Amino acid sequence: MMRAIATPWREAVRFPRGFRYDGKPWTAAAITDPHCTPTPSSIRHGRPYEHLGDGAARLARCFDAMCELPEGERPAFVLLLGDIGVADAEAVLTGARRPVYPVAGNYEDGELRDRLRAMYPHLFETGDYYAFDHAGVRVVGLCSAGVGNDHVGHLASEGIRPPGQSEWLGHTLDGPWRPTVLFSHCPPMPPGFDRDAYLERSSHEYVPFLADNDSRFLISMMERRGPLLGLFGHQHRATYGFDVGPSHALVLRSSNWNHDGEAIGFLLLRIDRTGISLREILTGTPGGGRATPGG
Ligand SMILES: [Fe+2]
Repeated sequence: MMRAIATPWREAVRFPRGFRYDGKPWTAAAITDPHCTPTPSSIRHGRPYEHLGDGAARLARCFDAMCELPEGERPAFVLLLGDIGVADAEAVLTGARRPVYPVAGNYEDGELRDRLRAMYPHLFETGDYYAFDHAGVRVVGLCSAGVGNDHVGHLASEGIRPPGQSEWLGHTLDGPWRPTVLFSHCPPMPPGFDRDAYLERSSHEYVPFLADNDSRFLISMMERRGPLLGLFGHQHRATYGFDVGPSHALVLRSSNWNHDGEAIGFLLLRIDRTGISLREILTGTPGGGRATPGG
């Protein structure tokens, strides 16, 4: 396989003064939008990346690249931020040599949502959202997929079980501060974002976020309970970040295809004594033509 390219490490979140993290440095990975099961949209947008194989092969490139990292950078686990295409991702995911923690994307609706739940019963037995701890860091997976098949994300929806995800998040973040990483499919709107933009579904510039009410709620949580790191996907664009008060949000590039001919890849995060740092691992570039926006 083509050798993956790693961007430089950059600090994303610095722990508050007075907080002491005593664990050894460790890393985790985050992958979004592998779209392993082809849809008309992913076929169309994925055409420039076909020389890299299908969606499952492009997902496999991420896991292969993790194995090629220096030993100290190999991730302890992988967060999978939705739009997985579980029907065709299963072989890659069951062959992964590290634990995988998924949440649903908007393409995981109906039977596909059930299949995802069935693949990871230990995670989804109590619902579509969950939290776990690793080496003193709390990791919180939020379901923003609503009933699915809707590019606008939702945290409060009858399609997310059990009801009360927002209240659960509030309780989960209560108590003494500790390092926390949130991950979900749809990002909140950055503070100051033009809120009319998401109404213009036919616009060339359309970028899908959480619905306004849920977006405000999540931004408020990150402002009040931070510093936290929030990881999101869904937009198929070059990875970008924005500060939310003391917290930091990152919207990740897809591992399958991206708008504007951007490279595909995944994220590495490293936790050490000072905070959380990030670097991207780029696993491929388009081989012909450019992806077109929309869809
Ligand atoms: Fe999506």
